Amino acid sequence: MGEAREALAMASTPSPPPGSSLTPPKIPFDLHVANREKLLKSIRSHLSDSSRPPQGFVLLQGGEEKNRYCTDHTELFRQESYFAYLYGVREPGFYGAIDIATGNSILFAPRLPAEYAVWLGEIKSLSHFKERYMVSMIYYTDEIAQVLCDQYGGSGKPLLFLLHGLNTDSDNFSKPAEFQGMEKFDTDLTTLHPILTECRVLKSDLELAIIQFANDISSEAHVEVMRKTRVKMKEYQLESMFLHHTYMYGGCRHCSYTCICATGGNGAVLHYGHAAAPNERILEDGDMALLDMGAEYHFYGSDITCSFPVNGKFTSDQTLIYNAVLEAHNAVISSMKPGVNWIDMHKLAEKTILESLKKGSILVGDVDDMMAKRLGAVFMPHGLGHFMGIDTHDPGGFLKNLQRMERPKEPGLKSLRTIRDLKEGMVITVEPGCYFIDALLTPALESSNTSKFFNQETIGRFKSFGGVRIESDLHVMANGCKNMTKCPRETWEIEAVMSGAPWPLEKTATNSANGKG
Ligand code: GLY
Ligand code: MN
Ligand code: MN
Repeated sequence: MGEAREALAMASTPSPPPGSSLTPPKIPFDLHVANREKLLKSIRSHLSDSSRPPQGFVLLQGGEEKNRYCTDHTELFRQESYFAYLYGVREPGFYGAIDIATGNSILFAPRLPAEYAVWLGEIKSLSHFKERYMVSMIYYTDEIAQVLCDQYGGSGKPLLFLLHGLNTDSDNFSKPAEFQGMEKFDTDLTTLHPILTECRVLKSDLELAIIQFANDISSEAHVEVMRKTRVKMKEYQLESMFLHHTYMYGGCRHCSYTCICATGGNGAVLHYGHAAAPNERILEDGDMALLDMGAEYHFYGSDITCSFPVNGKFTSDQTLIYNAVLEAHNAVISSMKPGVNWIDMHKLAEKTILESLKKGSILVGDVDDMMAKRLGAVFMPHGLGHFMGIDTHDPGGFLKNLQRMERPKEPGLKSLRTIRDLKEGMVITVEPGCYFIDALLTPALESSNTSKFFNQETIGRFKSFGGVRIESDLHVMANGCKNMTKCPRETWEIEAVMSGAPWPLEKTATNSANGKG
């Protein structure tokens, strides 16, 4: 073969797309079989403990597709999270049941009109759904009452365990299933929610593998964004690069939440990036960027924040604030293990940050005194972290009757999304931050309680600093925890990656000798 022909043959050989070391994993539907088995075991054990018969059905209604206001624009559907947990069903309009006596799982699919095949594609058979979602039985949604009455082996009206309970982050209630013929059943609205929520709190190995992939692709995308960030870009260009990378190489069509791409002073706006503040500022030389972005894969998410100087080089003030937060992040991770209480971790993060601010001559006085006056909440008004899984703010942080579950009232602590003791199998974010928020700083500077702690000569320098947050996703293990997020964290790692070094950094004689390899 001539050289030119050989080169052409090589060029036409299919190869994986350049740009990522990752491949999206096969969707593991057996994960949801295991989730259903876990629920069945928990609910049977609960019924047995309360001397109730192991009979009746768990019944959940899946999510419905929605249109944009009065138009025919259909919003991209994402399954309701509890339904996703138990069935992994992607399509709207389903119901799902579990027969507590037999353990059988039953899906009910919507009966689609013939027109569906013209506009939306093939109408899939019931057996297709039965096989794909690995359930024992499949029927149409207009058969729910009949099927459940026929399947019921007990006496009297069949009992339905429906999902009704408070989401303690949103203060909204989950919607119990409704269907034609419900009057033929007795319903229990209190038993299922706490039991199913607790199942979601402790992750299985199959769930952890998916969360790990969402973390891997999102960590890689953060590194990509870091490398390509340039002064004078717009914030939305950083968002766009993240979305492209996670979709292009990870097949992630959904994000876990709206991307926060804050630079300069916007870093002090905790939930920046919403419709009224849509990531559109121009990056200026000397700014910090605070990028909170996480992709979702097969319902399971990631929640990651990286903070870095947009020009690739930390100033001394940026180093001071960044390292204060990094020290808090690392101190918490080093202390995390089963039994540790989350309020204590929050306070550890606050104290570590206050100590660094004192060392950096931004604050003066006794750190315990600052803690007593809740000064930590001026710089970190949000909670240290939250459970994460199918929802970014996964439920279960304040389950009733499980532990002392009163929400604290003090500044900072009142924002915590959980106050529980850690348990093996939890996935929880660690996301300390230090922000210079006018609306908190000005009153703190004026208050007779707290003004004495500020060094008036230095604090002025930080008025338009914005903020730093470092956020990783942690899996609590038997003797500690594992950081599932793999982003550059040390200032020198960030500077190296931003100036073109590979990530993970290759070990060199110098950085190994520094203990940095
Ligand atoms: N990205 C939302 C959060 O960090 O909780
Ligand atoms: Mn978070
Ligand atoms: Mn976040």
